Amino acid sequence: MHDEHDWALATQAIRAGFERTAYGEHSEPVFLTSSYVFESAEQAAARFAGTDAGNVYSRYTNPTVSVFEQRLAALEGAEMAVATASGMAAILATCMALLKSGDHVVCSRSVFGTTTVLFSKYLQKFGVEVSFVALTDLAGWQAAVRANTRLLFLETPSNPLNEIVDIAAVSAIAHAANALLVVDNCFCTPALQRPLALGADIVVHSATKYIDGQGRCLGGAVAGSKAQMDEVLAFLRTAGPTLSAFNAWVLLKGLETLALRMEAHSENALALAQWLEQQPGVEQVFYCGLPSHPQHVLAKVQQSGFGGVLSFAVKGDKAAAWRFINATRMVSLTANLGDAKTTIVHPATTTHGRLSAEDRAQAGIGDNLIRLSVGLEDIADIRTDMQRGLAAL
Ligand SMILES: Cc1ncc(COP(=O)(O)O)c(C=O)c1O
Repeated sequence: MHDEHDWALATQAIRAGFERTAYGEHSEPVFLTSSYVFESAEQAAARFAGTDAGNVYSRYTNPTVSVFEQRLAALEGAEMAVATASGMAAILATCMALLKSGDHVVCSRSVFGTTTVLFSKYLQKFGVEVSFVALTDLAGWQAAVRANTRLLFLETPSNPLNEIVDIAAVSAIAHAANALLVVDNCFCTPALQRPLALGADIVVHSATKYIDGQGRCLGGAVAGSKAQMDEVLAFLRTAGPTLSAFNAWVLLKGLETLALRMEAHSENALALAQWLEQQPGVEQVFYCGLPSHPQHVLAKVQQSGFGGVLSFAVKGDKAAAWRFINATRMVSLTANLGDAKTTIVHPATTTHGRLSAEDRAQAGIGDNLIRLSVGLEDIADIRTDMQRGLAAL
């Protein structure tokens, strides 16, 4: 292997984890094969026994998926990464590998809605207790920890309000309680934030978002210590939500431009947030890159960029927010984020529609809130589209 741990992030994102085969190919090959042929009965037995490290079956290992795993591990500064079929599969695999009946989880209230459902509906069914706390309330995290707390889970920046928490502070709370901190690093990616270096134990990803970066496929990953990732891998091998070779290849191509894209997303989002803040039809802009954001200083220290997602409240009610969205013509009305194309969504009736009105109010997600995942189009064209929305308020 190369000296890839010494490479800068942009170099790792393009080259880490790849060893050419005897064919000398320049681009990573896609191994579309479900199983692998053994040279002898002895070798087959050794592969199944685990004494020979070669491939057996693509639910276990696949050479294309392995390159993606090694590249992501290098980017996150992890001993090992394991790829999954989606971001939700990454979170499920982490829980199934590391939790058991009787354990307790503390989860931020500001996580992706489906993550909340996974914890509150499905894990509770199997005897795992869950407490939800406000992301930015460190005393709340501390107070929620119990003797049987095994795992703390958060996203920072949060969706859709861009709240930030001090990862090092929450990891200190977790470790004092002998628990693990899991961070969903989907919004920043390792290009802007490296949770493991800040004390987190495990990073999970929806690679569907910025890692792909072009809205082409689903994927996910978990990264952490070898001991923990071996457990995650054992669950995936048994249960099956592994990443396909083709999707791994798409994600590898996405990673090659990650550093550049995250910088460009951050630049466009900051320019748009600053402009939106000046518009008379806008009540408030939620973007951690703005000095008006309550955790702006922390974001500057913890992240190397502010990311591409922002939200804003229009002056008016749900009808006004819908008029704004319906008046846009270029941006895509879709719930996905992290795409080269700018996307727009009304969180209260889509991504967060499953929460009760009370829970939404508690989370600060008003009916007049709009979320943008700012893409890589020319900023002037994005602004022109936003002007159409403002004119319809
Ligand atoms: C922060 C975050 N985590 C996890 C997920 C789930 O990822 P996937 O859709 O790849 O299962 C999403 C999806 O939108 C997300 O936004």
